[in-house]
Amino acid sequence: TKGAAMVTAVAARVQAQRKQVDQVLALFRLTREQLVGVRDKMRAELEYGLKRDTHLLATVKMLPTYVCGMPDGTERSPTFSPTERGNFLALDLGGTNFRVLLVKIRSGRRSVRMYNKIFAIPLEIMQGTGEELFDHIVQCISDFLDYMGLKGVPLPLGFTFSFPCRQTGIDKGILIEWTKGFKATDCEGEDMVDMLREAIKRRNEFDLDIVAVVNDTVGTMMTCGYEDPNCEIGLIAGTGSNMCYMEEMRNIEVVEGDEGKMCINTEWGGFGDNGCIDDIRTQYDKEVDEGSLNPGKQRYEKMTSGMYLGEIVRQILIDLTKQGLLFRGQISERLRTRGIFETKFLSQIESDRLALLQVRRILQQLGLDSTCEDSIVVKEVCGAVSRRAAQLCGAGMAAIVEKRREDQGLEHLKITVGVDGTLYKLHPHFSWILQETVKELAPKCDVTFMLSEDGSGKGAALITAVAKRLQQAQKE
Ligand code: GLC
Repeated sequence: TKGAAMVTAVAARVQAQRKQVDQVLALFRLTREQLVGVRDKMRAELEYGLKRDTHLLATVKMLPTYVCGMPDGTERSPTFSPTERGNFLALDLGGTNFRVLLVKIRSGRRSVRMYNKIFAIPLEIMQGTGEELFDHIVQCISDFLDYMGLKGVPLPLGFTFSFPCRQTGIDKGILIEWTKGFKATDCEGEDMVDMLREAIKRRNEFDLDIVAVVNDTVGTMMTCGYEDPNCEIGLIAGTGSNMCYMEEMRNIEVVEGDEGKMCINTEWGGFGDNGCIDDIRTQYDKEVDEGSLNPGKQRYEKMTSGMYLGEIVRQILIDLTKQGLLFRGQISERLRTRGIFETKFLSQIESDRLALLQVRRILQQLGLDSTCEDSIVVKEVCGAVSRRAAQLCGAGMAAIVEKRREDQGLEHLKITVGVDGTLYKLHPHFSWILQETVKELAPKCDVTFMLSEDGSGKGAALITAVAKRLQQAQKE
């Protein structure tokens, strides 16, 4: 009977611990009402950002991009004609990797060939001075041109710069503020095209014609729009989270003119910065925010994107360990280290094909010694955090497709979203949960998600090609 009593005591303890874990996980479960609330608040913030009086104060910045119409590679499109061709250089800064690309567009057949090279941007450069950052970028361009044997060839350049920029034309972009992992000094408030141009001049080795500065969402949308004219939305679910879409000019109060459409970079990552979703933010979200480079900013992005999901997981694991529910109550040095759970690890841990033993092995690789029970809990934590991220992202997407449907006075809208980003591409569940959520919250819209391989770089080249032709037409 003594033995039996011990077994009962252990069972009771296990049960109590389970309850504590469940309580934490429950904080990440959103009800339908809460998701509807997020959708409706997002909708309100989108409208706020479009209006002249509230534009500058809006947390969802709704930035005009000066990209009008869609390239579809055919005669039908006013902006993209089959004569668009040639070689273009593209830079892609702000995602997981910094890349330099050569994009060859051939006329008519929608054929695009690309060559690219990935370069590292060391932390001390991301967070050094602006001049150092741009000198480094130009150094990479120089290496690439050498490598391709193109030094001295004048090339038009499209700059995919994935940060919020205030644009007054396709080739002007004043950085409003850095997001994600960047914090180089003397850049905010400056025109990124000017800074790049000056760095090229400083080096005095080659001449490039910077034609367009483009957000990655816009590049992604354009790339998919090249194949599918229904594509009027671009989504990035990667290191950061953002969305762009084609808006009626008449609704964009901060730009002159009422005819046609222009692409708006929503910068929806800033949604919630006024506190409007604080009711669903947890203590862990707040800890992640406080430990970030931009506290108080990009609250929605911090709940939905690759750079932060692993950090939320880490905060939860620390708390569960403190409560004695994990890792034998021992908080290791590793667990205290920021950034250990990259998107690729989260994706692996949540893969259904993976046996628990393999989850333990991944944790081991991360320097975390786990028992079998630990690995179950870790997997559940990852699942709760990424599920909420996908649902929140879906609620945001539902807001925009519903807006588009209403604006066009349609009973039913068929629309395509061009998507890119490591979270969307690597994670085993993110994309389907996102899609289910959109279906649930925007039932009158038929939304197709189209994956864009390498969308941001290719898109920058496509936009550059169009801008270049328009530039030339103006000169003639
Ligand atoms: C951040 C940037 C935004 C970008 C997104 C995805 O939210 O502010 O411009 O599109 O990350 O890279």
